[in-house]
Amino acid sequence: MSTTGAGGARVHFVRLAPAKLNLTLAVVGRRGDGYHALHSVMVPLSLGDVLTVSAGPARATHDSLRITGLTMPAAPDNLVLRAIAATRAQIAATWHDAPDPPPPLVARLAKRVPVAAGLGGGSSDAAVAIDAALAAWATTLDPEETGALAASLGSDVPFFLAGGAALVTGRGEFVEALPDIEGEPPAVVLVSPRLPLATSAVFKAYAGGARWRDPGRAMEISNRLAAQMRAGLTGAALMVLAEELAAANDLRPAAASLAPGLADLATALQKLTGRPVGQSGSGPTLWSFYATVAEARHAVRFLRRAAADGRLPLVGIGEPLVAATIIAGRQQPRTTRPGADHR
Ligand code: C5P
Repeated sequence: MSTTGAGGARVHFVRLAPAKLNLTLAVVGRRGDGYHALHSVMVPLSLGDVLTVSAGPARATHDSLRITGLTMPAAPDNLVLRAIAATRAQIAATWHDAPDPPPPLVARLAKRVPVAAGLGGGSSDAAVAIDAALAAWATTLDPEETGALAASLGSDVPFFLAGGAALVTGRGEFVEALPDIEGEPPAVVLVSPRLPLATSAVFKAYAGGARWRDPGRAMEISNRLAAQMRAGLTGAALMVLAEELAAANDLRPAAASLAPGLADLATALQKLTGRPVGQSGSGPTLWSFYATVAEARHAVRFLRRAAADGRLPLVGIGEPLVAATIIAGRQQPRTTRPGADHR
C-alpha cells in the first residue's frame, strides 16, 4: 500500500466535512420501508469538521479514531468508523492483497459541528471518511457504488458526497445538484441549543401528528426555491426569501414537541434580531441570515450576551452554541493521489 510519501513519511489525507443547512424541508409522504419521502433544498456551510486519515502503524489490528473539539464518544458506532468499515467491506472483493482485507486506518476528527443538531455533522463526517479511506488505500469505487454505500450509512450522506447545493428527494438518496448561489451568499447565524435531537425521534413525532396545520405549504415553497435556484438565484434574492423559508420546514412542530422551549427560543431570537428564524433539518439548530459575515459576527456577540443574561430562554443544558458561518460554494474536485495531501 502506498500511503507513505517520498522518504517514507506517513501521508495524511485531510478532508473538510462541512455542515449543511436545509433551506427547505418538506415531508411529502411515508414510504413502504418506513422512511419519509422528502423534498429538501440543502446547502453546505463553511463551518465544518476536519477529518484526517492515514495508514495505521504496522502492528495495528483495527481502525482507530481520536476526536478533539466538541465532545462526543469515539465509540465503534461513530459514523467515521462505520464508514471506514463499510468502505473496506465494499472493496474487499477486488482488493489486491485479498484474502487479507484493506489494512487498518488511523482517523482524527476535529469536531466543530454539533451532532444530532440538524446540521448533518455525523453524515458529513461519514461522506468524507469514505473518500479519505479510498484515498488512503489508493483505490476508487464507481459513483453508483459510492452512492449506495453513502445511502447505507444515513439519509443525509449522499448529499455530502455531491459537494454543493442540491435538491434532495426520496429518503435522501436522490441528489440533484443545483448551481451555487450567485454573488455574495448570505452569512448565517446558527443558534444550536445543547439538546441533541435524534432524527428518528423527530420523524416519529411527525408521524404521530406533530405537524403544521397547512400541510402543503413547505412543499410549495421548496418547489419554488428549487426552480429559482436552477435558474440562478443571487444571495440578495435568497435573503429576501428568508421569511418564507423559515416556514418551509415540516419538522419544526415535531422538533418543538420534543424540545420544550424551542419555539419560545425562536420567538425570542426573532424579536431580538428583527429577522426571520428558521430551523435546520430535524433541529434543534435555528438559523437567521445576514448580508455579511461581519454583521453575523456582531449578531453572535450580541446573542451570546443575551443568552448569558437570560434574554434568550434556555433549551437543554447550558447556553446554546452560537456561531457565524456562510453558505459555501461547490467544493473543487479533490486530488486523491497518495502524496498530494501530504502535510
Ligand atoms: O437515515 P438516518 O439514519 O439518518 O435516519 C434516522 C432515522 O430517521 C430513520 O431510522 C428514520 O426513522 C428517520 N428518517 C425518516 N425519513 C427520512 C430520513 C430519516 O423517517 N427521510
